[in-house]
Amino acid sequence: MVDNALPVPHTSEVNSERILETDLRAQPGNREVHVWSVPLEVTDDAQRELETVLSEQERRRAGQYVFEHDRRDFIAGRATLRIVLGRYLRLAPKAVDLYKDSNGKPHLTRRCHRDLRFNMSRSHGLGLIAICGGEDVGIDVELVRDIEDAAAVVERFFCPEEISEWTALDRSRRTRAFFDCWTRKEAYVKAVGSGLQIPLNSFAVSFLEGETPMVRLHGDCAYWSLFDVRPSAGHAAAVAVRGSGWRCVSKGDGTAAGL
Ligand SMILES: CC(C)(COP(=O)(O)OP(=O)(O)OC[C@H]1O[C@@H](n2cnc3c(N)ncnc32)[C@H](O)[C@@H]1OP(=O)(O)O)[C@@H](O)C(=O)NCCC(=O)NCCS
Repeated sequence: MVDNALPVPHTSEVNSERILETDLRAQPGNREVHVWSVPLEVTDDAQRELETVLSEQERRRAGQYVFEHDRRDFIAGRATLRIVLGRYLRLAPKAVDLYKDSNGKPHLTRRCHRDLRFNMSRSHGLGLIAICGGEDVGIDVELVRDIEDAAAVVERFFCPEEISEWTALDRSRRTRAFFDCWTRKEAYVKAVGSGLQIPLNSFAVSFLEGETPMVRLHGDCAYWSLFDVRPSAGHAAAVAVRGSGWRCVSKGDGTAAGL
């Protein structure tokens, strides 16, 4: 479902006064996770304008990237995150006040959050942002691509149950299944907030075609909802959110499954 579609990044909205003039306010409904799909490849002019909404600290971080494409993706992603959050909070992008917790997960400060939670992921020029009210949320996106020695990566990072399911698949299905499993696992650890400090092989997710996405094996698995998101045919993506009764609503370009 796509409603209230937002073409982002839209540089004319970077200007703080203009965004407040427009009536583009967004609000997640009760138990709704909004998923914004964000193209990160923008023109040089747009890039320069987007950079103006970053904080000093974010600009310093942008300057530390070794590769130019990583720097550009970070700037476009973080600026768009500010623009999108600004719509929910009725704030200019630059006024959105963010901090990183001890695990590196960004949050809104108490001063401006009004109970909004969010998470972001970037892969090869595409960004996804998940936003909801009141509960921890995590999102992960990956470009589906061949990876060298996938079997060794599966052995190392998947749990025994996932390894046998993946190995039993026809070879033609393994790449897609790998990224479906990977993004669901990462979405979960990102929602929890500890990132890869939770070993990826310490819990299981469902990932076979047709299976309802869920965290299957973990102490608190009953308390999490998982959704498959399809921002494009070539990407795998997933959203995890604490609790049950959620629905995932696609905003912008992508389509969110699991409605
Ligand atoms: C979070 C993590 C899984 C990101 O994985 P990734 O696939 O490389 O990157 P993604 O594009 O999906 O996500 C990156 C975004 O996730 C968010 N993020 C960062 N740390 C996070 C965390 N611990 N939990 C949830 N989200 C996090 C940020 O918004 C980041 O975007 P940014 O780079 O623009 O700031 C990985 O970096 C990790 O495990 N970090 C944990 C760090 C850690 O262990 N810190 C210990 C103390 S220093």
